[in-house]
Amino acid sequence: MEQSIEPQFTVGGRSRIYVGGAAELLPRLLPAAGRVVVISDANIDRRHHGLLARYEHLLIGTGETVKTLQTAETLYRRFIELGVDRSTFVLGIGGGIVTDVTGFVASTYMRGLRFGFVSTTLLGQVDASVGGKNGVNVDGYKNMVGTFSQPEFVVCDTTLLSTLPLREFRTGLAEALKAGIIADTALFGRLERSSVEELRRNRALLEEIVTAAIRVKADIVERDEREGGERRKLNLGHTFGHAIEKCSSKMNHGEAVAAGTVLAARGAVKLGLLEEEACGRIERALSGLGFQTQSPVEPRKLLKAVERDKKADGGTLHMIFPERIGSCAIRPISLAELAELFK
Ligand code: GLY
Repeated sequence: MEQSIEPQFTVGGRSRIYVGGAAELLPRLLPAAGRVVVISDANIDRRHHGLLARYEHLLIGTGETVKTLQTAETLYRRFIELGVDRSTFVLGIGGGIVTDVTGFVASTYMRGLRFGFVSTTLLGQVDASVGGKNGVNVDGYKNMVGTFSQPEFVVCDTTLLSTLPLREFRTGLAEALKAGIIADTALFGRLERSSVEELRRNRALLEEIVTAAIRVKADIVERDEREGGERRKLNLGHTFGHAIEKCSSKMNHGEAVAAGTVLAARGAVKLGLLEEEACGRIERALSGLGFQTQSPVEPRKLLKAVERDKKADGGTLHMIFPERIGSCAIRPISLAELAELFK
């Protein structure tokens, strides 16, 4: 039997979230008897080989282009070859792509195996790995196929972040700031006053930021696990962020979300939802962290990409607008209204 260790957070009443050392926590969280199969990628193998080498492991490729049904199928086949069965525990060690694919494969293979994650990137720790969303992209449409299934545990080990390239580290800060704008004024203030260099140097500060951002997400997911309402707030900056990512290779996810957040804030000012001064604070906080706040893609192109995403999604477009630092509103909006707002 695995030992029980008190987690910092619980999501959906069953997913335990730990901010702490993976090497120490894993032996206490994984099943004491039974097989563990790890899914990871080549970057993690290079940076944290010692952690992977303890387990039987399979590596997938890197980058958003590997988040596909083909990758999932390859893993199903490998599982069959290796004789992975219902008694196997699947552990994803990596960033958002690894945890999304691992969660999807583990929750569908043989109708679902036990699984958990070690999240190794800042983006993964403050957002992707927590909350039970997993899945793959289809024809460039993000997360079109997937499930809501909670990992048994997520370990967010901030010591693993020291080997992240600067750009990858920074991308997670956009999501942490997003959490502050949505529901935590103090977290926003901490990030507003910090520099990327300080956050990379100061482990205690970083741990504080990671913990606060997870708290925002865990609280929201606890109330709305399947995104019927409030969880949509976590998509702040993502309507335009996804469109920017699609139309330009210049920005990675966090960079596109940062520019998308600024667009949402400016739209909120136009609608009279947000004070100009608060919008300025959001822009300054993002540029202080080194983000470009201007979208590299012109509004007309962005609106076309939003329209394509909306068609694929089939639902109403819900735009998230900041109302003040620490609070956001969810507004159903038509494409015509969106075009008018951002023309
Ligand atoms: N990344 C947004 C969510 O998990 O709902």
